Amino acid sequence: MKKVLVTGGAGYIGSHVVRQLGEAGYEVVVYDNCSTGVASSVLFGKLIVGDLADLDRLYQTFARHQFDAVLHFAASLIAPESVVNPLDYYANNTRNTLNLLRCCDAFGIDKLIFSSTAAVYGEPGLTPVTEGCPTAPINPYGRSKLMSEWLIQDAANASRLRYVILRYFNVAGADPGGRIGQLSANATHLIRVACDAALSRKPGVRIFGTDFPTSDGTGIRDYIHVEDLASAHLAALTYLEAEQPSQILNCGYGQGYSVRQVIDRVKAISGSNFSVIETERRPGDPACVKACANKIRQILKWQPQFDDLDTIVRSALRWELQRDNQLRKHPLVGAIAKRLHQPLILTAPDSLAVMPDTDDVELSYWSSPSINYELAQ
Ligand SMILES: NC(=O)c1ccc[n+]([C@@H]2O[C@H](COP(=O)([O-])OP(=O)(O)OC[C@H]3O[C@@H](n4cnc5c(N)ncnc54)[C@H](O)[C@@H]3O)[C@@H](O)[C@H]2O)c1
Repeated sequence: MKKVLVTGGAGYIGSHVVRQLGEAGYEVVVYDNCSTGVASSVLFGKLIVGDLADLDRLYQTFARHQFDAVLHFAASLIAPESVVNPLDYYANNTRNTLNLLRCCDAFGIDKLIFSSTAAVYGEPGLTPVTEGCPTAPINPYGRSKLMSEWLIQDAANASRLRYVILRYFNVAGADPGGRIGQLSANATHLIRVACDAALSRKPGVRIFGTDFPTSDGTGIRDYIHVEDLASAHLAALTYLEAEQPSQILNCGYGQGYSVRQVIDRVKAISGSNFSVIETERRPGDPACVKACANKIRQILKWQPQFDDLDTIVRSALRWELQRDNQLRKHPLVGAIAKRLHQPLILTAPDSLAVMPDTDDVELSYWSSPSINYELAQ
């Protein structure tokens, strides 16, 4: 059985990839400090609670397991926060990627998949954005990720490492099985914010800018379902296993939806008429950002299955309903659940997020969030 290391595998996107890797028969070891991720999101394999800054522990992890490939998700990713704390972002994203590369080098790892972002393009002048467009990130988050890309490329040039760098556009939605989804308390993505408003967690939604040169005046973005994004990682792994050369690939659908379209669909699907406030544009927000997704489809033979706004919104709403114990008592829940035509799983993943009060421990549990912690050593 092939064994893979997944850094950040307890987080939103990493946990979906871990689930798909487990289902595809990979042996998975997650390395995560659980700063934003939670143990209960790891549905397959072994979770090592550790920090990428801890080079000794990371090295020990590589020494103990023989990894066939590494998938690197762990990072800090809130762009405005990166403007306030730039050094933390360079440390967690760039320096810790260097730590990981040192271990990959020491243990002869030849396959790496890296989570990058459309933020490396900054404010792209052209849309759809191709991988050949100039990179000009406008905040430390984007720069820390671009610098990580450069580290990976330089390390690969000097060794047998091959990589697939995936530049994600706007990730949304949740596991179609309803078991995992986004848990981060301070997520600011539009679909999450609109779901929060639909569920009365927030008073309403703000639209930043209604005078863009788009059909309805609001910004257009390319939303990709997390399940399709996860399957792109498995396709990238298969590609590297076939000894194919390194690639940088956009991860989006190549189609966009405006802010108003997203809000309208969340309202229609939830049946909630939350308030919408129109305000000025934010500095640096481009009118339209869509991925050119030809390369990933062609090279990885990637075929998305959830590329539809309603599907994304339904899965996001369903997850938000399920993950919140308090919310379940709200009368809205029954009504919205009915509209979704999907059963809710009411064995709360959040109630299962029980962690021992030490981070110097290795936990392993298998295939089910009905958690059965086993202290490994
Ligand atoms: N969510 C998006 O829309 C989006 C868009 C573009 C790119 N990305 C990239 O995707 C990746 C995953 O993002 P996500 O949305 O799943 O975020 P997330 O915060 O849910 O997941 C990140 C995970 O990394 C872990 N982590 C952070 N620092 C660590 C460290 N020093 N050591 C060990 N573990 C650490 C966290 O505990 C968490 O489980 C990131 O690299 C991010 O830059 C995300």
